[in-house]
Amino acid sequence: MTSRLTLIAANWKMNGDDALVASMQSMLLTNNVLEKNVEVLICPPLTLLSKFSSSLEISLGAQNCSEHDSGAFTGEISTSMLRDIGCQYVLAGHSERRELYGESNELVADKFLQIVRQGMKPILCIGETLQDRQNGQTEQVLKQQLDAVLSITEEQDWQKAVIAYEPVWAIGTGETATPEVAQSAHSYVRTYLAEHTKTHGVAATCRILYGGSMKPENAQDLLAMPDIDGGLIGGASLVSESFLAIINAANAS
Ligand code: PGA
Repeated sequence: MTSRLTLIAANWKMNGDDALVASMQSMLLTNNVLEKNVEVLICPPLTLLSKFSSSLEISLGAQNCSEHDSGAFTGEISTSMLRDIGCQYVLAGHSERRELYGESNELVADKFLQIVRQGMKPILCIGETLQDRQNGQTEQVLKQQLDAVLSITEEQDWQKAVIAYEPVWAIGTGETATPEVAQSAHSYVRTYLAEHTKTHGVAATCRILYGGSMKPENAQDLLAMPDIDGGLIGGASLVSESFLAIINAANAS
């Protein structure tokens, strides 16, 4: 059996302040959760990134990046800049970026490649809308989102990649996919990736996170599923105690 290190990732979105960094740090330190078998990642707003103590054994990430190397792109941040400030991970194609900022599958794929080129780990976010699901198009949408990236990458570009399956209807709504519904999508994604990356076996090692109203009450059941290798957590990561409870659930499952 392939072992995939569970990844519990916080996506703070445009939330958080010094006080949240402080409470998160002290919660992580005092509860010894970082010594267990779970990788903890925090993707705060970039202005808070440097506030995390470098002695804290967590990973840090960004929520977005530019698809360009450098140049006249006012307001954008390049992947090399993100690497320089200590990011190991960068989210690509979060559904809020896709929906609110019009990021296409192709743009997301370009960002994925930029992240890989800087030696960082992309977290490719994919997921269907409620309408897609009601129309029976979940797998087709996931396939299209994956195809855009597969078509411009080599197999080895996936070696450090993480995928986050985040059904749009579950993000920030309080409605969570059942473990069975999530597992079925995760299994589809892993199988599809396996079919398209046969040489390096990246599908067996690629961590596929679930995102969409993951919280202390449902984390353990979701994380018990064979193809769910962690979580990407929004709302519940803004409360230290809830995030801790999810890390503990990951350690227990
Ligand atoms: P949520 O957000 O946990 O608040 O649903 C998840 C995400 O957007 O990554």
